[in-house]
Amino acid sequence: MVSRYRPVTKTITHYAANACLLPICQLHGAAITTVEGIGSTKTRVHPVQERIAKAHGSQCGFCTPGMVMSMYALLRNTPQPSMDDIAEALAGNLCRCTGYRPIIDGCRTFCQVQSSSIQHEAAITISSISSTDYCWNSPQLFDKDQFQPLDPTQELIFPPELILTSQTPRPEPLTFQGERMTWVSPGSMDQLVQLRSRHPGAPLVMGNTNIGPDIKFKGIIHPLIISPTRVTELFETTQTPEGVWVGAGSSLSEVRTLLENLVPQYPPEKTELFRALIKQLGNLGSQQIRNVASLGGNIVSAYPNSDLNPVLAAGRCKLSVVSSGGKREVPLNQDFFVNFGKTILKPHEIVVSVFIPFTRKGEFVGAFRQAPRKESSFATVTTGMRVFFSEGSRVVQDISIYYGGMGPTTVSAVKTCAAIVTRSEQWDDETLGRAYEVLLEELVLPPSAPGGKVEFRRSLTLSLLFKFNLEVLHKLRHMPLKAACLPHLLSCMEKKKIIISQTPLPQSVSQEQNSQDPVGRPIMHRSALSQATGEAVYCDDLPRTDGELFLALVTSSRAHAKIIQLDVSEALKVPGVVDVITAKDIPGRKVRTMCGYDEELLAGSEVSCIGQMVCGVVADTRAHAKRGAAAVKISYEDLPEPIFTIEVCETVTLTIREHRMGGQEHFYMETQSMLVVPVGEEREFNIYVSTQWPAATQEAVAQTLGIPSNRVTCHVKRMGGAFGGKVTKTSILASVTSVAVTNRPVRCILERGEDMLITGGRHPVVGKYKVGFMNDGRIIAADIQFYTNAGNTIDESVLVIEKILLHMDNAYNIPHLRGSGAACRTNLPSNTAFRGFGVPQSLMFVENMITDVSMVLGLPADKIREINMYRGPSVTHYKYQFNPENLLRCWDQCKAKSTFSSRRTAVDQFNQQNQWKKRGMSIIPIKYGIAFAPSLYHAAALVHIYKDGSVLVTHGGTEMGQGIHTKVQQVASRELHIPTSKVYISETGTNTVPNTCPSAASFGTDANGMAVKNACQTLYQRLEPIRKKNPKGLWESWVTAAFFEKISLSATGFHRGPDLYMDWEAMEGQPYAYFTYGACFSEVELDCLSGDYRTLRTDIVVDIGRSVNPSVDIGQVEGAFMQGLGLYTLEELKFSPSGLLYTRGPSQYKIPAVCDVPLSFNVYLLPDSYNPHAIYSSKGIGEPVVFLGSSVFYAIKDAVAAARSQSGLAGPFPLDSPATADKACLASASHFTQKVRVGGSVGRWAGLWVGL
Ligand SMILES: Cc1cc2nc3c(=O)[nH]c(=O)nc-3n(C[C@H](O)[C@H](O)[C@H](O)COP(=O)(O)OP(=O)(O)OC[C@H]3O[C@@H](n4cnc5c(N)ncnc54)[C@H](O)[C@@H]3O)c2cc1C
Ligand code: FES
Repeated sequence: MVSRYRPVTKTITHYAANACLLPICQLHGAAITTVEGIGSTKTRVHPVQERIAKAHGSQCGFCTPGMVMSMYALLRNTPQPSMDDIAEALAGNLCRCTGYRPIIDGCRTFCQVQSSSIQHEAAITISSISSTDYCWNSPQLFDKDQFQPLDPTQELIFPPELILTSQTPRPEPLTFQGERMTWVSPGSMDQLVQLRSRHPGAPLVMGNTNIGPDIKFKGIIHPLIISPTRVTELFETTQTPEGVWVGAGSSLSEVRTLLENLVPQYPPEKTELFRALIKQLGNLGSQQIRNVASLGGNIVSAYPNSDLNPVLAAGRCKLSVVSSGGKREVPLNQDFFVNFGKTILKPHEIVVSVFIPFTRKGEFVGAFRQAPRKESSFATVTTGMRVFFSEGSRVVQDISIYYGGMGPTTVSAVKTCAAIVTRSEQWDDETLGRAYEVLLEELVLPPSAPGGKVEFRRSLTLSLLFKFNLEVLHKLRHMPLKAACLPHLLSCMEKKKIIISQTPLPQSVSQEQNSQDPVGRPIMHRSALSQATGEAVYCDDLPRTDGELFLALVTSSRAHAKIIQLDVSEALKVPGVVDVITAKDIPGRKVRTMCGYDEELLAGSEVSCIGQMVCGVVADTRAHAKRGAAAVKISYEDLPEPIFTIEVCETVTLTIREHRMGGQEHFYMETQSMLVVPVGEEREFNIYVSTQWPAATQEAVAQTLGIPSNRVTCHVKRMGGAFGGKVTKTSILASVTSVAVTNRPVRCILERGEDMLITGGRHPVVGKYKVGFMNDGRIIAADIQFYTNAGNTIDESVLVIEKILLHMDNAYNIPHLRGSGAACRTNLPSNTAFRGFGVPQSLMFVENMITDVSMVLGLPADKIREINMYRGPSVTHYKYQFNPENLLRCWDQCKAKSTFSSRRTAVDQFNQQNQWKKRGMSIIPIKYGIAFAPSLYHAAALVHIYKDGSVLVTHGGTEMGQGIHTKVQQVASRELHIPTSKVYISETGTNTVPNTCPSAASFGTDANGMAVKNACQTLYQRLEPIRKKNPKGLWESWVTAAFFEKISLSATGFHRGPDLYMDWEAMEGQPYAYFTYGACFSEVELDCLSGDYRTLRTDIVVDIGRSVNPSVDIGQVEGAFMQGLGLYTLEELKFSPSGLLYTRGPSQYKIPAVCDVPLSFNVYLLPDSYNPHAIYSSKGIGEPVVFLGSSVFYAIKDAVAAARSQSGLAGPFPLDSPATADKACLASASHFTQKVRVGGSVGRWAGLWVGL
């Protein structure tokens, strides 16, 4: 949080900001508060930290400090916020673990006023299913009465010395000198004008939200930066009878507040433009961006899809500009925007203020946008429109229409405007009908337009004009409109309120259970408070050690090529660079073998994808290493025909039905991180690393260095998320890092873009299926072929294919089921394990097949599912016997809880009454096999009891947010009959528990929990004689006595999993220990004009046996569901035609945010479920629910089907995953999308594709 004193108003302002965009020099005179500053576990935890932690809002914890600080900044300004305030404050923060519900739940406790009606309409709830066998004492997930109150008087005060220095202005320029950059902050407008005229090429940095990313991501160096934040004229506001002059330096948040304050002061007809701007400002970026980004910066940046420029231009705004040549006024019109990032302003000119005029009677302004995600996302198309009618008539006197996202800069639809005005036509359907035709011809995007999605963007220009038309008609009130046609109802982008109503949580403990026994209780994640206070240590938090170096990787820029020359000479000249490592420097094994195939650690003579690691530059700092990496020159000779798509690989052609599913980026919040420290003797190394599989990293590093494994110790404290991406990839990266170590420690932390480029993700899949079915819906036979895009190496692709094939029945008994799968090698970065390991892909094809059958037969999809579902004693297609009773119970209870039948009726009614907005719903089952590879299904533990009675537990599982340490702590507590506070888990280390299996496949607690139980039982038995001697004694006294009785207080534990197998030749086996079941209902509302949708409701019923920790398990369910929602409806990887991943950061790749959480979100744990195969009758739950996110996909498909049937289109239709807004909109086949047709060849940019 940044706090500043404003001498003019004598006020202190607080605002949240993104640290990565804040230049340190810009913070001169500001006070900065970080998460460590507001509370600590050692002194007092701040109420925000406490509530987010205790509401279970922190899993891996990597996002938690950001969440805390966004909420803290809100409370500093608004101690009693509304839910809208909270949703807005958190809109710019991402969390990949929790599904946001518990974070909002914790923050909501600060709201004083709750509207019960809203709560009823839009609730995120956790509800229970009552049980007959257990006493459900309905405890809350947390007890908010135990929370400390928020006392604003106890907050940190603004440092008085900063007030004093702000009150004494320093007119002279402030200068900061860096290694390659000079930063000058002028103290007056004169100085600014002089500087600007002397250095016209130097940027003015205000919010740094344009310049900053350019420096960081494009490597642009500005030798001089001018920071005019002390020039008061840039922040002045002046009202005139015609409008308001707003200082160009004002932040977008300040502009919004100013306009919001002005609106009530004037009659509505004067503030049309103000209100349009307020609307647009509410959706622009996030609050953190708006708090720093300036109005002038936004205009001058001239982004092609700027949200403000089309509205400012349509609204006839103008700029006051100053330079050494004097002052002038410049109109913001079609001549202002020249090209991408270019305006007509001269390089030495400075925008001082922006004039925003009042509107006149009969003048209406509209602003619309469509973006890949509802919040914190640049728009795909954005628009500002203004129309002025002759007094008392519907004849258009003047109109202006501007679009963003339809060219290299903001464009004016001049011809369309002329077509409306010159005919002196009435504003009616006929006039607009002609305008659409002109607009279609006027705003033509070539097929090769940057950004792609050409058809969609063109159709948006029409549908956004249509929305404006409806808005104008409504305002004119000349035409009686049906309520359902009004634009505010058309738009699903309208924010719906998120209110959490907290209902009881099912607790799997009986009244007889000892109150001290924590198993089955919703215990908070054991590190939640450390995570919320910023004390939790992640790999990159480890303090720099003496002489430490940093490794930056150099990756291939060619998809398939020979390396002709690797020239590192320039890199070695960069200050601080110590060495460059190549494949030749690897002392031991230069490859890693997976499934019998070798993968090079660093490319030797040939590269097979863009992003393949070629060499690494080692330097004294991260900045120097990066500069060195940029200076490495690699010459290539391209090899023929790189392969990117699966189509090119496949040889079989089956054409019954085809479905495509894109991949997914793990987007763990903590990128790949490691620190390799040489001990200094006998070639011993300590590796601090963020990995799911320390043993594999240990082994890989030892092999790479040619040393025995006993010289390498891997330490994993915690990971900031992993989701499968830190199993195999991390071992390669750690191996490469270890090569860079001589006698100094080396750290390697990937930046987000590098991580996304190098490490791959979930396999995209193309599937083709034939299906035979009866008229009553029974499926008799199905044949499915899966083709995955494996990327350039095998990694775990074959294992993923196996899992795809083993799950292709999902919940259905298809008598004749055949499948085949191929992992296709391509010239893209190798894909790898990802939560669900092929199951989320496999089931998508099965469910799509079922949906197709239902559409062909004209029967409801849920009926087809029910008809074909396993019932009674059942056998899978690989002859595994199981009882599907709990699957059916989940299904039935999900239908009941969601009131499926009455919702179906309501949805159908809604669709009949609404032309442009459709609702859709679906219910989807899952049967998910839990086990790890047969030979890897084991776990070990080491438990020490110390003389003071404290217990240290170590086991093979790693903590990545899934709460394994919390559950294991509960296990140890139960088995040793001591409170959890006596049990500590420090880290996972290969020196304490060797030869472990990865924490993956949802079996971590099953196996490690059993191993810990085993060790604890051994210890408890050893204490038995002591306990018998002194039955009333305390734990500590028993332990002390045991020590003096020479009883060992340390024990190992081991769990040998079941002997599973799969005979692929005979097509039979028992590859899983048991199944986790579930069912999920979702309902969405789709805006057919823009493709935007909102999930109105989701009900999930899952069978997780008897949960060891319901709050942790529900966290997994919600988080997995949201990750699935992202996979199937939002997250889209895009590659260039030459195989370069374009989506390399949060700006381009959208994971779900707060705005994507279903408005009503209910999770139910199936009662009366027992599982003899896992600890305390629980079940693994980490992965299964990802697939249930597809219920939102099928609900969208249902809504699209309703829209299509309105246009007379019936029967199956293709909708590939993810069902992003553009796909949903185009599939809806509205009047507008049908007008748009794209011809010509696909060019360089429009050829964006998703690795299929
Ligand atoms: C994560 C993120 C999300 C975003 N989302 C959106 C969005 O949804 N919609 C949208 O429209 N925009 C969005 N933006 C863009 C953002 O609004 C602009 O980057 C911002 O308004 C630029 O202002 P600034 O003060 O940060 O500019 P700076 O980066 O400080 O400067 C940008 C340029 O403007 C020039 N400049 C600045 N002030 C003046 C002046 N007074 N006179 C002359 N030249 C000047 C500078 O010389 C420089 O070239 C987003 C940006 C980010 C980083
Ligand atoms: S807890 Fe939010 S990213 Fe892990």
